Amino acid sequence: MSDQAAASKALVSQNEDPIAFTEVSAKFGNGHVAFADVTCQFEHGTSTALIGPNGSGKTTLLRMMCGLVPPSQGTICPEPSKKIFALVAQHHGQRGWLPLTVSNVLRMSRFRDRGLIKRLGAADRMLIENAAERLEVSDLDNRQFGELSGGQRQRVMVAQALAHDADVLLMDEPITGLDLPSQETILRIVDEERRRGRIVVISTHHMDEAELCDQVILLANRIVASGTPGEVLTNRNLQEAFGLRMAHGDKDDCVFHGEHDDHTDGIVHVFNDHGHGHDPYDR
Ligand SMILES: Nc1ncnc2c1ncn2[C@@H]1O[C@H](COP(=O)(O)OP(=O)(O)OP(=O)(O)O)[C@@H](O)[C@H]1O
Ligand SMILES: [Mg+2]
Repeated sequence: MSDQAAASKALVSQNEDPIAFTEVSAKFGNGHVAFADVTCQFEHGTSTALIGPNGSGKTTLLRMMCGLVPPSQGTICPEPSKKIFALVAQHHGQRGWLPLTVSNVLRMSRFRDRGLIKRLGAADRMLIENAAERLEVSDLDNRQFGELSGGQRQRVMVAQALAHDADVLLMDEPITGLDLPSQETILRIVDEERRRGRIVVISTHHMDEAELCDQVILLANRIVASGTPGEVLTNRNLQEAFGLRMAHGDKDDCVFHGEHDDHTDGIVHVFNDHGHGHDPYDR
């Protein structure tokens, strides 16, 4: 089965060094600081959830990991060019006007290795078919990408990222706006990709998604807390990052389901989708 073939595939670059941020800051040209003094590490074979309020620096950190935003201070080791990245962006409605079929969009994932001119080989086609099957978008093959619903489009973009066959899979709010079965599919993929030895990093406003990751980094334009879900998802940390509106109860309560089921009363576990992205008309 093609899934097994993909599972046995080694990492593309053979570079299994973790990605280490050391005292990294992101300051934009207009002087705005998205985050400062971030020190953290991302190991192969692990998943990390970035959580934090709107504007806390999650998207900027993902974009910096793959080299789209340079650090204004600090170091990232190894530099992004040493690994292969796939990024599922938070806003991808902009491509809606392009006259591309789903098949075109998926084939674009192989341009890195094949270029624009060369025909795709059997291995490329297998990667694409496998990714389309896993995201259940095979039947959308001939549809115009721009005509898909927000959730369908999101699943196609995750399939495209998988077919990219990268060392590092970055997904910016991958389950926002998806129905429950699609959310489960994406969560399963996060787990499967990490088991295949990739570095998987997602941003999310969903606590229950963060809980499933090996590491959680709570951002508020700096790192408020990082560690296991049990260490990070405490009321104290969430109050510090989000303010009192997000959580109440004793400060040291942990909102992590796996460890403290009896402390869940009155705590918001799933942050509301905040209305951006995935609107079929936001192009
Ligand atoms: N290109 C840019 N130029 C200037 N400021 C920027 C730029 N990109 C992001 N910012 C600012 O950096 C801060 C962090 O933005 P970022 O998009 O990383 O937040 P986020 O945590 O992903 O938020 P959300 O939950 O809303 O997606 C925000 O204040 C944002 O306005
Ligand atoms: Mg964002």
